[in-house]
Amino acid sequence: MRYDKKPTVCVIGLGYIGLPTAAIIARAGCQVLGVDVDKNVVDTIAQGKIHIEEVELDGLVQGVVSRGMLHTSLEVQPSDVFVVAVPTPFGEDKAPDTSYILAATQKIAEVLKAGDTIILESTSPVGTTKKMRDMIASLRPDLKVPGLSDEAPDIAIAYCPERVLPGKILEELIYNDRSIGGITPRCARKALTFYKYFVRGECVTTDAESAEMTKLVENAYRDVNIAFANELSIISDKMGLNIWEIIKLANRHPRVNILQPGPGVGGHCIAVDPWFIVHSAPEESPLIRTARTVNDYKTDHVLGQVKHIIEQNPSAKIACLGLAFKANIDDFRESPAKKIAACLAREYGERVSIVEPYASILPTEFENTAAELIDIDKAIADCEIFVALVDHDIFKSIPLAERSNKIVYDTRGIWPDQIRNPE
Ligand SMILES: NC(=O)c1ccc[n+]([C@@H]2O[C@H](COP(=O)([O-])OP(=O)(O)OC[C@H]3O[C@@H](n4cnc5c(N)ncnc54)[C@H](O)[C@@H]3O)[C@@H](O)[C@H]2O)c1
Repeated sequence: MRYDKKPTVCVIGLGYIGLPTAAIIARAGCQVLGVDVDKNVVDTIAQGKIHIEEVELDGLVQGVVSRGMLHTSLEVQPSDVFVVAVPTPFGEDKAPDTSYILAATQKIAEVLKAGDTIILESTSPVGTTKKMRDMIASLRPDLKVPGLSDEAPDIAIAYCPERVLPGKILEELIYNDRSIGGITPRCARKALTFYKYFVRGECVTTDAESAEMTKLVENAYRDVNIAFANELSIISDKMGLNIWEIIKLANRHPRVNILQPGPGVGGHCIAVDPWFIVHSAPEESPLIRTARTVNDYKTDHVLGQVKHIIEQNPSAKIACLGLAFKANIDDFRESPAKKIAACLAREYGERVSIVEPYASILPTEFENTAAELIDIDKAIADCEIFVALVDHDIFKSIPLAERSNKIVYDTRGIWPDQIRNPE
């Protein structure tokens, strides 16, 4: 199955996933319209600039915009392929919020024509792709939709999740394998034809529900394994043991590979998606739920230990190193580092400074605090307590000579030459 010519593509949602995806599709020679509800995002990209930090994305976007391959708009317009990459947060009760997906679907329905393909890339609870299909069926009774008609359908609908690593998104968008789940096998084949324009990894077709669940399972797997490492670190703190040494030794076993503990789990994916499984099957998911609870509790555990150190050193100034949810990126969503630093700033006022090379201003959580954003040199000169919250390369490179007179609390094990003795 082939398109006669390269399809026109509308990418809806131009964030960390949608913008790199739109730019890569445009570079592959498809005419792309990027759509977002945020006017600032639309205007920034239209000028060939970017509003997020991602390695080499600026040059790529500048190139495809200047060659006229990527345009932007606040409105969805007719296209051959629609790619949906809008947010899927959870609500207060941890229930997944698919309202952004349904809002985008409504806009697609207004311009949809026979022959079009819709692909959902947002991480979604099982059944969401079919919900999109049902919405299209009710809004566009003139179109035959897949799975609801005995006749050949007019359109194709598929689910194809992202599994990219922030900081390596452009590379991984091309070289990672993809699971492509169609509402029907024909839908999966149509989506596969599209991904072949720009993906070099293996594209494996399946049904929509299996692809939806696969994405959730991948993130729950990571969360459960990190929870094991975090639980071990809490136990080791109680016993006065060095968890980094223990994990290093245990991983010498040929079939053991324990992950690294941290200050908790953050980001838009691993800290969120396991709840989609728990919400769908609450009785059957005690391990996944407990892992989420352990990883959230690790943040409180770190906070308690750091407060104890601060209170034992009442005049010392504190530098919180890092706010991002992981190393070498500017993404602060659901970040335990940001949560810990903001709590310390609220409690200890101007004694607390923040070092975050990936921020130009402090996030809103620091409003009404006296915390200052400073660079690492000023922290080394002025602060007596270092709380290492993120393993940014710049922090790892600080030599022992510049830390040896500091009281260090290292949540990431970035300085093995300076081990804190737990209480
Ligand atoms: N960031 C990651 O590393 C990552 C990895 C894998 C999967 N995902 C999933 O991809 C999806 C998108 O994540 P993201 O990180 O790109 O989010 P994001 O918040 O960076 O970007 C989403 C964009 O969608 C826009 N938007 C919201 N509603 C819209 C609508 N109705 N129409 C048009 N635009 C709309 C927002 O303004 C925003 O610019 C989520 O489901 C996420 O779980 C993210």
